[in-house]
Amino acid sequence: MKKITTSAPGKLMLFGEHAVVYGYPSIVTAMDTRIFVIAEMIENSSDIIITPQVKESRFLVESLKLFKEEFQVKQSVKLHTRSDFSHNVGLGSSSAVTVAAFKALSLLFDKKLSKKEIFDLSYKVTLQIQGVGSGFDIAAATYGGTLHFITGGKKIEYLDTEEIPLIVGYSGVKADTPTMIRKVENAFKNKKEEIGKIFGEIEQIIGKAKEAIIDKDYQLTGNLMNKNHKLLVKLGVSTERLESMVNASLASGAYGAKLSGAGGGDCMIALISPEKKGEVEKAIQKVGGTIIRVANNAEGTREEL
Ligand code: MEV
Repeated sequence: MKKITTSAPGKLMLFGEHAVVYGYPSIVTAMDTRIFVIAEMIENSSDIIITPQVKESRFLVESLKLFKEEFQVKQSVKLHTRSDFSHNVGLGSSSAVTVAAFKALSLLFDKKLSKKEIFDLSYKVTLQIQGVGSGFDIAAATYGGTLHFITGGKKIEYLDTEEIPLIVGYSGVKADTPTMIRKVENAFKNKKEEIGKIFGEIEQIIGKAKEAIIDKDYQLTGNLMNKNHKLLVKLGVSTERLESMVNASLASGAYGAKLSGAGGGDCMIALISPEKKGEVEKAIQKVGGTIIRVANNAEGTREEL
């Protein structure tokens, strides 16, 4: 019986987390660590879903359900996953597995789904499960590359760039994204003007960062990352550990550093010149961070042949 293997990349938020949930732009890059989905038709009376990482199974169950409804598929299916990275580090495993599942199912049942259709279906599943989220991680998993993204995918454009010289440090604490989104939502409710102003400042940073990344002006990109990070601190989403990792990176010569993603734990990123790599990595480790070695600007979802 027919069997298909697909994959989709994880993501790193470069600029604009949280503000993007309110319709402001963000910049995200796809990582070269991927999640793989193997889909096959089976003779069973019910579907089989095998996922070594428990959290993923809900995303697969809902993706399969939506796909079957949408395309009136009755055939039973087995979905199996394999992953290059842990779902504990906040680098987008749920979105990657969802996108890879729709890609696999579309190929298995010969439904020609465009990237936009895969994005829309996957975003629907994420919203069903998490209730909140901008969809930027789904965009990275679907389209790959480095993207300028406006919430819900109203506008998604590729930035013409190459691999960006980044170091990724994991803080050792798994953050809960919906909780962090709600934290900012509460702050926004209570201090509309102040928080709205922060979002506006983040938008301005992104306007400049887009050009700086395309021009490979990493000094400027780094400065803009620092500014974005300070605004995230004001939003109340940084942690002591993230602060020490960011400060250690800057003290050891990074162009810029910031938390990446929801905050409250998870990861930070530092932008470096290649000769500073070793020093910055050591500095991050010294304050308790773990280095995650990943390339970025990676390819979006694809069939694995
Ligand atoms: C989480 O990685 C980034 C947030 O902006 C949430 C989202 O955009 O879905 C906090």
